[in-house]
Amino acid sequence: MEEKQRGKGHRLVLMPSPFQGHITPLLQLADILYSKGGFSITIVHTVFNSPNTSSFPHFTFHALPGALSDTEASTVDAVHLTDIINTRCASPLREYLAVLLSQGDKEDPVACFIADGVLHFTQSVCDEFQLPRFVLRTGGASPFLVFASFPLLRQRGYLPVQESRLEEPVVDLPPLKVKDLPLFQSHHPEAFYNLVCRSVDGCKASSGVIWNTFEELESPALTKLRQQFSVPMYPIGPFHKYFLPGSTSTSLLTPDKSCISWLDGKENKSVVYVSFGSIVAISEAELLEIAWGLANSKQPFLWVIRPGIVRGSEWIEPLPSGFLENLGGRGYIVKWAPQEQVLKHPALGAFWTHNGWNSTLESVCEGVPMICAPCFGDQKVNAKYVSDVWKVGVQLPNKLERVEIEKAIRKLMLGDEANEIRENILNLKEKANVCLEEGGSSYCFLDCLVSDILSLKS
Ligand code: UDX
Repeated sequence: MEEKQRGKGHRLVLMPSPFQGHITPLLQLADILYSKGGFSITIVHTVFNSPNTSSFPHFTFHALPGALSDTEASTVDAVHLTDIINTRCASPLREYLAVLLSQGDKEDPVACFIADGVLHFTQSVCDEFQLPRFVLRTGGASPFLVFASFPLLRQRGYLPVQESRLEEPVVDLPPLKVKDLPLFQSHHPEAFYNLVCRSVDGCKASSGVIWNTFEELESPALTKLRQQFSVPMYPIGPFHKYFLPGSTSTSLLTPDKSCISWLDGKENKSVVYVSFGSIVAISEAELLEIAWGLANSKQPFLWVIRPGIVRGSEWIEPLPSGFLENLGGRGYIVKWAPQEQVLKHPALGAFWTHNGWNSTLESVCEGVPMICAPCFGDQKVNAKYVSDVWKVGVQLPNKLERVEIEKAIRKLMLGDEANEIRENILNLKEKANVCLEEGGSSYCFLDCLVSDILSLKS
């Protein structure tokens, strides 16, 4: 798509789900539609985890009053919190849209609403105003295909998952086994099932689904979804590749940039970067297994330990005293890293990740092989694709043990498979670059998306 400002004079209203892994892609999408499409942008959001507005002075932000405050919200049970948002935000959003749409802004009429896929309540609110609604799926298409199959999986007895069947293949969804199914540590498993089904229905009722993925990466899943859904699919990712690294900040936490100069002192492709994203929590015992696995691997490592990630601890108190000092500069710990810059650094050799979709995609885009330790939800499906389909990483056994960790690091950094894995991921990296160039798949789908938004009658 040429840099034409076709959307000029049209406003898009977007709403993120208030989690780091969801806020980032939604703001990136808004910025893509602003800079490539020329649209005016309004972001409606909860007060809880409200986005960093200073990076986007060209957007209008509106906090939904009374919807969800910082004090009552918590990310401990993301399913429960999402349910509250779906119930509590309907009225304030309705009131806000009523005012916005009645003002009849002649210069910038609202063309459509774009909502994070888990905010299914937005479909009925938009319907009341006959406002077209698009969905942003912040995760991959492959896990979504599994979500879309939840009723079938329940009918066939795969759900709820039984411990005794974990190693069985899921016949309808190769290559997944029962243990790879995307489940959530929620206090209310039925609530997760319902959230998934409502979100899938919300996609079916929408004007189209926008994906932070690219056709060449997930073609089989996208093809199946096109057969099952009658709405257009727009895989226009990877979103972060539209911008220069570090040009805008979507981070809720402040990244510790000191790790970049630490990386500068390390040999090419020698460092293992360890990060489990913004929600995963681990036990004290797991922290210690990770620590000793890293120490025993003899490879340098950069480890993100988010405050609160260890249940019952503030930060790294459970680590043995002098743990880092005894490694003589081989390890570095930060509370939050500038991840995109870290993954780009020539010293990076591997990324030990929980396989959140953003981290997985960022690793693919920088050609960094992965050690996969998925915890819940889509992460398990992403990890399966990384290790068994794209073959760009290795997966750790479910129980974190220092010996297995050391083995996995050696296998990925030094083993016979290492070269093949590196070659595979560099291949995908190349495809990620090409899809954004003129005539590439994501470039063309973005062009279609802009045309389709402009042809809507709201
Ligand atoms: C959540 C879910 O856990 C995940 O499964 C889903 O796919 C998206 O929503 P999260 O766990 O935060 O996301 O993981 P991920 O999707 O990887 O997003 C984390 C983001 O934070 C990435 O963009 C990453 O670059 C960034 N990050 C992470 C940092 O900038 N610094 C860090 O130190 C760690």
